[in-house]
Amino acid sequence: MNEKQRLESQQVQAANSSDKKSEKDFSKYFESVYTPPSLKDAKKRGKEDVQYQDFAIPEEFKNMGKGRHFYIRTYGCQMNEHDTEVMAGIFIGLGYEPTDSVENANVILLNTCAIRENAENKVFGELGHLKHLKQKNPDVLIGVCGCMSQEESVVNKILKTYNQVDMIFGTHNIHRLPNILQEAYMSKEMVIEVWSKEGDIIENLPKVRRGDIKAWVNIMYGCDKFCTYCIVPYTRGKERSRRPEDIIQEVRHLAAQGYKEITLLGQNVNAYGKDFEDIKYGLGDLMDEIRKIDIPRIRFTTSHPRDFDDHLIEVLSKGGNLLEHIHLPVQSGSTEVLKIMARKYSREEYLELVRKIKAAIPNASFTTDIIVGYPNETDEQFEETLSLYREVGFEGAYTFIYSPREGTPAAKMQDNVPMEVKKERLQRLNALVNEFSAAAMKKYQDQVVEVLVEGESKNNPEVLAGYTRNSKLVNFKGPKSAIGKLVKVKITDAKTWSLNGEMIEELEAIEVN
Ligand code: 5AD
Ligand code: SF4
Repeated sequence: MNEKQRLESQQVQAANSSDKKSEKDFSKYFESVYTPPSLKDAKKRGKEDVQYQDFAIPEEFKNMGKGRHFYIRTYGCQMNEHDTEVMAGIFIGLGYEPTDSVENANVILLNTCAIRENAENKVFGELGHLKHLKQKNPDVLIGVCGCMSQEESVVNKILKTYNQVDMIFGTHNIHRLPNILQEAYMSKEMVIEVWSKEGDIIENLPKVRRGDIKAWVNIMYGCDKFCTYCIVPYTRGKERSRRPEDIIQEVRHLAAQGYKEITLLGQNVNAYGKDFEDIKYGLGDLMDEIRKIDIPRIRFTTSHPRDFDDHLIEVLSKGGNLLEHIHLPVQSGSTEVLKIMARKYSREEYLELVRKIKAAIPNASFTTDIIVGYPNETDEQFEETLSLYREVGFEGAYTFIYSPREGTPAAKMQDNVPMEVKKERLQRLNALVNEFSAAAMKKYQDQVVEVLVEGESKNNPEVLAGYTRNSKLVNFKGPKSAIGKLVKVKITDAKTWSLNGEMIEELEAIEVN
């Protein structure tokens, strides 16, 4: 870490929150130890200042974990899941061993999600449970990391009321885990390390991947879209892309290790490369190179319709290992609501994009994210969401009731939609989502599909489970030797959210362009 970063860092030794401070003293004290990511500064983001660094475990910490176990509980999106893989890699590098029981753990981390209020409530509930554990075993270290740690109100609340917590660190500070642990061992006080700066790019991070069939690869971090409801641009920092050569090397390495499916990850992957000043290079260019790597399946998530350009569509239409499932969050079918959400496209522009993608990739299937009950959303505007859903013919959706997030512009909006109405809209939308999913599944009845076999089915170990190219879950009878392979399955029964079938054959070598 260089001096500049050190200055920008918020590394503090916070006095133990059990100190009885008055409200006023507390606010003063809090301001002195924590500067939150600022909404104003975040909006003024410049292109400069992203630093690329290589990670290495400091020599002096290499035995830190000897005889100790770590446990990480992950909440939220794939980005968080992948961050957990990185933190697990760092723990292993420090000599710790993993455990899947909190009782056995010497270090417990909660990798948190801030996207909606209920995600946060779960974490506070879990911290309540962990209090008993800490009382029984005061030596256990408890840490809170991930998106919630980047929120001022959360850090404040933890400092005030959750003194069982030993460490709080942000999404930009993961590579600092060895130092944060060391501080926590050395000190009786809560260690807080949350950087308000916009984040750098750290390469060579170790990873313990969840399996050996599918892998995530970050291509970029952060988001500059500032949709008015969303906390992500504040918790994840500004958009910054990894260099193409680093990504390609990682994917090649995964291919050589025998991985069958890669998902390229970013909050807004279509903005990939926009921050490069020396080269003109976007997601289309990256996918065009990655598709030549000998790996059978490549996915990417999450897309923003605004940045989904023609070059990417052209590259995706080449097919091969580029899968034809497009997850394209629309959020609302009403142009007025989209405007208030600051999504920067209209209903018509979204439909036009879908039309273009369908023309280039006729067998493309679409899924989406939708928020209902946005402040002041009218019945008519909600009906427009339903009609857009039908018009696109989505095959699945993640649906949410709007949840105000402190610090976002929408949280300040007056809202005249009662919760009852929001819930009713969600139910109506979900009924449509189920109907369309069932209809999409029906099309596979008696068809033969390609399935990447992931393992035994969760509900029945006699049955294998895997996914089709467009992400449909398939359960089927087949030999255990098929796990990790691509097989052909004939569909015998189509349900609302999954397919049942019989394995026909193992696929021969997959042809990659
Ligand atoms: N309330 C409800 N849903 C939200 N999402 C993001 N922020 C909020 C919020 N404040 C949803 C969006 C996004 C998905 C990941 O979560 O649909 O695409
Ligand atoms: Fe949030 Fe996605 Fe909008 Fe970025 S593009 S602000 S991550 S909803």
